[in-house]
Amino acid sequence: MAKVLEIIKEPNEILRKISKEIDEKTINSPDFQLLLKDMALTMKKKDGAGLAAPQIGKNIRVITIGLENDVLHIINPVITKKSWAKEWGEEGCLSVPKFFAQVQRHKKIKCNFLDQSGKKKSLETTGFLARVIQHEIDHLDGILFIDKIGNPSPK
Ligand code: CO
Repeated sequence: MAKVLEIIKEPNEILRKISKEIDEKTINSPDFQLLLKDMALTMKKKDGAGLAAPQIGKNIRVITIGLENDVLHIINPVITKKSWAKEWGEEGCLSVPKFFAQVQRHKKIKCNFLDQSGKKKSLETTGFLARVIQHEIDHLDGILFIDKIGNPSPK
């Protein structure tokens, strides 16, 4: 049975580490599959747009993204293309409770990753989904959105 995991809050050194890639062979193990289910349930219950493994205390390159009626598990993500164009948008984070700020992100990205069964996937996306993926991948590199906040009004 999937369970709701505790969210690690800033400041905590786990949130600041570079996370390690997952060995493809472990993806189909029962323990790893349960971890994915736990992450999906935790994200839903805590009302997050996405969740990265460091936020539940594991420094591995795994993120879970909420879609309208589904969940997307992204393992060992690599952004292979990003648009020159950036846009501002409001972000928050389960690890930084009750704080929201404007952050600039690439408008469009292409991301290669392994899915929950270890299959190679490629996703090209824009807008909110592209923003969430960039936010979550930052977590895997020890970066929080509060490191990137700025003033969106033109000078
Ligand atoms: Co976050």
